[in-house]
Amino acid sequence: MNELDMVQEILELKREKRAIILAHNYQRDEVQDLADFTGDSLELSRTASTIECDVIVFCGVNFMAESAAILSPTKTVVLPEVEACCPMADMIQVEKPRKMKAAFPGYDIQPELFFPVEFTLMDLKQRYPGVPVVSYVNTTAEVKAHSDICCTSANVIKVVESLPGQEVICVPDRNLAMWAQKNTQKKIIAWDGFCHVHDRVRRQDALKAKKEHPGALLMAHPECRLEVLEVADHVTSTSGMLKFAKNSPGKEFIVGTELGLMHRLRKENPDKIFYPLRKDMICPNMKKTTLKSVYTALKELKTVVRVPEDIRVRAKSALDRMLAL
Ligand code: 13P
Ligand code: SF4
Repeated sequence: MNELDMVQEILELKREKRAIILAHNYQRDEVQDLADFTGDSLELSRTASTIECDVIVFCGVNFMAESAAILSPTKTVVLPEVEACCPMADMIQVEKPRKMKAAFPGYDIQPELFFPVEFTLMDLKQRYPGVPVVSYVNTTAEVKAHSDICCTSANVIKVVESLPGQEVICVPDRNLAMWAQKNTQKKIIAWDGFCHVHDRVRRQDALKAKKEHPGALLMAHPECRLEVLEVADHVTSTSGMLKFAKNSPGKEFIVGTELGLMHRLRKENPDKIFYPLRKDMICPNMKKTTLKSVYTALKELKTVVRVPEDIRVRAKSALDRMLAL
């Protein structure tokens, strides 16, 4: 089947099954173009919780589809590529410790700053009893179920500020936690997890890109290291970058996030120029989903994402608290 026929088939199946396709901003261009809604993690969670349909085809990675299943238990949530995972989300477990050095050979440990990933969320909670836990949406349902509230890159500061007390635990992204620390008076206790796509960027990459494009504004995702965020003109989520680029009088931008975002940036701003901060900012898991996988997912309704009810209810409370903000 050629691409055009495949798209027609998908549209037909969508009508037949009362399905909606949600795609993250990092998905392949053709998958984004096909989707009913494209957005950042926060927008997609909101859409999943309010949209009228029977089936949600979630083009993203597993924790995102899981969040949709948590928020919409009466809908069938389908993840087209079951192997599409987020390595950062797997860097924290509730009870079973990870062998991080084996999983990430180049792993750069900073035990003086962060709680080591070889431990568990339970260890961290025992070490800091009573301190509220904020879990980034890039976590498993089980971790969310053991958290007080969730956050995304778009609302982490607001979430931290909303909590009582002067100490807050932020898991699993050390960079997002450091960004929150820079923007709050509260003490952040951070886990040593990271996104391998954003964490590889260093300050010298940012300075080099700024030197090569002197008129361009640097937008950076808070999953980047603080040394990068400190030299950025704007730090925000993927959809925050779309808004910033649209509303800014600037004409050129350096994009400090996964390259999938370039598609919408260019499409929505044909008069502006976008440069990648690094050409290797590609998330292999986000690229696993293709038109073919969306077609098969709809046709066979697979793989359906299910979350055990006791975990789902507790994880939903953490997500609902975030959405209520
Ligand atoms: P946002 O789209 O929410 O900024 O998230 C980025 C991300 O890495 C999701 O995996
Ligand atoms: Fe996870 Fe990073 Fe990929 Fe987002 S870009 S899904 S945080 S590995």
